[in-house]
Amino acid sequence: MKFNIMTLFPDMIKQGLGSSIIGKAQEKNLIEIDTINIRDYAYNKHKQVDDYPYGGGAGMVMQPEPIYEAYKSVTSKLSNKPRVIYLTPQGKTFNQEMAMELSKEEELIFLCGHYEGIDERVIDMIVTDEVSIGDYILTGGELAVMVMVDAISRLIPNVLSNGVSATTESFDDNLLEYPQYTRPAVFMDKKVPDILLSGHHKNIDQWRREQSLIRTYNKRPDLLEKAELSEKDKKTIDKYCKL
Ligand code: 6GU
Repeated sequence: MKFNIMTLFPDMIKQGLGSSIIGKAQEKNLIEIDTINIRDYAYNKHKQVDDYPYGGGAGMVMQPEPIYEAYKSVTSKLSNKPRVIYLTPQGKTFNQEMAMELSKEEELIFLCGHYEGIDERVIDMIVTDEVSIGDYILTGGELAVMVMVDAISRLIPNVLSNGVSATTESFDDNLLEYPQYTRPAVFMDKKVPDILLSGHHKNIDQWRREQSLIRTYNKRPDLLEKAELSEKDKKTIDKYCKL
């Protein structure tokens, strides 16, 4: 997967995605993250990329030309045009399902805005998807694109070293993860549940499924409505949750 990120702050992106699992994934060429500095495509000698809004009002608006030129620099060499995702609080809210869908693409282009927004004409011309990461306002799209690249990349084969963990974690089946424990077996008088030390894998799997159901019921009942539950699952919820 190749991520092309158009931004005024490429260093922020490189720093944010340069270490840990996403950094390793780049080193292993499982993903490629290219930043395009929109300021490199500024039209005037002061490298200015924003101007006052027509009609007045507070703040500055990003001009269309540098963004269009930055976009052309990515797509002019490509035969098929990748989706262009504009990070904006006005977009569709990002979720795990969207991450899974986007992880199947070969190449993506992201556009990070700043100031009070971007000239609408260039949005109309190049953007295919508008995405928000939640109902709050950030100073720019950079943190949002980092969130998306992280969530998408971990779904790409071999990015996570433990092949199973991408699929067994929270949300894939609309259930939260069961509680995890490691050594020591007793920490400040608190014991690890006996069943996890029993070595009975079938019983452990059953206990974990029950814990997932109970947790989801208590913490995220909204998810439980979307989960696929067996008759046994429903009995578990009746037994432990609906007292
Ligand atoms: Cl994608 N951008 C900005 N500026 N603020 C946001 C956002 C994006 N998603 C939530 N808030």
